[in-house]
Amino acid sequence: MEAEKIWSLAVITFSLCLASLVMAEEDSALRTYIVQLHPNGPTRIPATSELLHRWHISFVRDSMSSSEESEDPSSRILYSYRSAMEGFAARLSQLEVASLRRLPGVIAVRPDRKLQVHTTYSYKFLGLGTSASGAWARSGFGRGMIIGVLDTGVWPESPSFDDRGMPPVPRKWKGVCQEGQDFNSSNCNRKLIGARFFTKGHRVASAPSPDNPNAVLEYVSPRDSHGHGTHTSSTAGGVSVPMASVLGNGAGVARGMAPEAHIAVYKVCWLTGCYSSDILAAMDVAIRDGVDVLSLSLGGFPIPLYDDSIAIGSFRAMEHGISVVCAAGNNGPIMSSVANEAPWIATVGASTLDRRFPALVRLGNGKFLYGESMYPGNRLANSGKKLELVYVAGGDKGSEFCFRGSLPRDKVRGKMVVCDRGVNGRAEKGEVVKEAGGAAMILANTEINDEEDSVDVHVLPATQIGFREAIRLKAYINSTRRATARLVFGGTVIGKSRALSVALFSSRGPSLTDPGILKPDVIAPGVNIIAAWPQNLGPSSLPEDSRRVNFTVMSGTSMACPHVSGIVALIRSAHPKWSPAAVKSAIMTTADVTDHSGKPIMDGDKPARIFAMGAGHVNPPRAINPGLIYDISSNDYITHLCTLGYGTSDIFTITHRNVSCHELLRKNRGFSLNYPSISVTFKDKATRKMIRRRVTNVGDPHSVYTVEVEEPEGVRVRVRPRRLVFEHKNQVLSYRVWFISRTMGVKSSEGQLTWVHSENRVRSPVSVTWKHK
Ligand SMILES: *[C@@H]1O[C@H](CO)[C@@H](O)[C@H](O)[C@H]1NC(C)=O
Ligand SMILES: *[C@@H]1O[C@H](CO)[C@@H](O)[C@H](O)[C@H]1NC(C)=O
Ligand SMILES: *[C@@H]1O[C@H](CO)[C@@H](O)[C@H](O)[C@H]1NC(C)=O
Ligand SMILES: *[C@@H]1O[C@H](CO)[C@@H](O)[C@H](O)[C@H]1NC(C)=O
Repeated sequence: MEAEKIWSLAVITFSLCLASLVMAEEDSALRTYIVQLHPNGPTRIPATSELLHRWHISFVRDSMSSSEESEDPSSRILYSYRSAMEGFAARLSQLEVASLRRLPGVIAVRPDRKLQVHTTYSYKFLGLGTSASGAWARSGFGRGMIIGVLDTGVWPESPSFDDRGMPPVPRKWKGVCQEGQDFNSSNCNRKLIGARFFTKGHRVASAPSPDNPNAVLEYVSPRDSHGHGTHTSSTAGGVSVPMASVLGNGAGVARGMAPEAHIAVYKVCWLTGCYSSDILAAMDVAIRDGVDVLSLSLGGFPIPLYDDSIAIGSFRAMEHGISVVCAAGNNGPIMSSVANEAPWIATVGASTLDRRFPALVRLGNGKFLYGESMYPGNRLANSGKKLELVYVAGGDKGSEFCFRGSLPRDKVRGKMVVCDRGVNGRAEKGEVVKEAGGAAMILANTEINDEEDSVDVHVLPATQIGFREAIRLKAYINSTRRATARLVFGGTVIGKSRALSVALFSSRGPSLTDPGILKPDVIAPGVNIIAAWPQNLGPSSLPEDSRRVNFTVMSGTSMACPHVSGIVALIRSAHPKWSPAAVKSAIMTTADVTDHSGKPIMDGDKPARIFAMGAGHVNPPRAINPGLIYDISSNDYITHLCTLGYGTSDIFTITHRNVSCHELLRKNRGFSLNYPSISVTFKDKATRKMIRRRVTNVGDPHSVYTVEVEEPEGVRVRVRPRRLVFEHKNQVLSYRVWFISRTMGVKSSEGQLTWVHSENRVRSPVSVTWKHK
């Protein structure tokens, strides 16, 4: 809710400032709007960008009142769009918006939205690359593919963007390396082939001001001031960097998912957020630049598709054959928190790898608490030393959370300080303790964070403990006059100790805007991910952190998203003709629902449900060779939007197509979108439902698949036919599935439907929901 809250707060403050002014002046205050136009409106779209721009200006001029005649309408236009959407972004008053809405050819006027990057704002570190098994790496490395990353920019000098051994820039590439502050064309190479920045929606101030105190920290160029974009870009397509480590800890190979893919960076996120007018401008240009994949580790809250510029821009991108991959958001475990949920987008949730960074707390009474940290323990002065333990709770300054200025020096000096997690940044708490003279920190999860374990690169010796351990810790502190503890760092432990699980923060389905489509689609690694980092930022990302690293650790669905973007590049490189839907199908139907040892993927202490993990955890080697794919055309998506009950004008806004739903639904009676997962809802009296699917054979030309069904509780499932006999490659066969409700006793249940062949298992998760009156 944060971004929205801040935004509405800004609006309130803004309105309050204006309260003393007369009404007319309030109406004339300018804000940014995205104006969508009819592509074949009263006048046809002009052919050149110059004419297009003039056409857009004419709309602004027509909306302006006579008193503004002296003003140049072109100064109001921020962007002219033509590839991701028909229309423009402009600074407009409420009066102008009202008159624009009445102009023929204008189909929608939406206020700009502020979105945010999807990290958990915990800046952490340490060095192991993303896991890569030989099988899939050999199948192309993403060679020839271009991944466009919409994010906070890039640190081009990072060793992850070295272009030694990279193939030449693809000939279809039309992008540029845009010059700006500390950035010019010499910063691009065969790895980082393009870089642009979009400031108009955000309107970067070049000097600090009360509105934008961070202005000086931001490069007005593609250069990354934040770190997030450098991290995500290198996760998607960074080259292999051997012995990547952070402060000498955890050496290993750091490597992007598609190490031979090219990266094009579109900086749309600034320290204050990412504006949809900038995002749309970046998508607009990226489509023309010639990217194959768009990776967006950003978003907001679920909103209807016709109000969502990312959904609209990505529909056009999809029609151009571009795969759009987005982060699901970090608002889990709240149900229906998933964002970026359009069916033509691949929506990615986050998983926790089976890697641990133990840093135990040995209490004065001899008992141990389990904690985790990436702190390079053995190299620190206070590490391992027995210290007095203090928890400063109960004040009104937020000292239990270790707010800035909340810790009394005399109480914490030289001690190990307990800080509750939440409200302010995790690494920031460490800085607060250090500033107050504390020697070490225990970061204690509260009920909200439960056992979530994203680790941090703290500026002092520290460990993080789960909620259960936090209760034991506080009970111990209460039980004794002089509590003491010491930290015992254990390095990195891989495997064994834990199951693959859904990250607690990963946003959950069901989708609010489109409950018939299971979202998120898949999960991918998103907790404690090591990737490239700007060389002028500390690994904790705090301004006070003077340490320098080439890699750091971050957590969030932001980190999961570029894993999938890289996998998409690998698949497209191996199968250049596949549509975005086919590529997504390959990733979904081959995803894992168990870990290497066959144990189910967990969500807390229970097996994960479909609304947490979608089709499961990505498995790149299998995704390269899925056997069958579920393909979807643009027209299928349009018919699907009709089934959602969207009106003609809403569908037009999203797809730029004028359709008659009445006719489409009549022609496609019983239509079901050919999605690789299945979601069925029983309403009141319905006891039977039938859905259809079509599969395309992309495996052995001669192959026979038989169906295996795991029935969800409370329904009987019938599949016809039960065998699919393929005789050639790219042959399409259909099947139908009947769901017969046998109970009203449960609200929802889950199962799966799998087409099995000697080499392939093509699995669709099945979700059944009963809407009781
Ligand atoms: C780019 O910037 C670098 C460093 O400021 C400078 O040495 C180089 O000459 C510039 N190159 C171009 C092509 O402008
Ligand atoms: C510790 O003591 C304080 C004050 O007596 C009390 O409020 C708190 O609940 C106790 N905490 C635990 C974990 O026992
Ligand atoms: C970061 O990478 C650069 C270039 O590869 C290297 O010169 C530098 O020593 C590295 N810095 C650290 C802290 O490892
Ligand atoms: C859609 O088509 C109908 C009939 O062909 C037409 O009357 C209507 O104006 C069109 N709407 C749009 C938004 O183009």
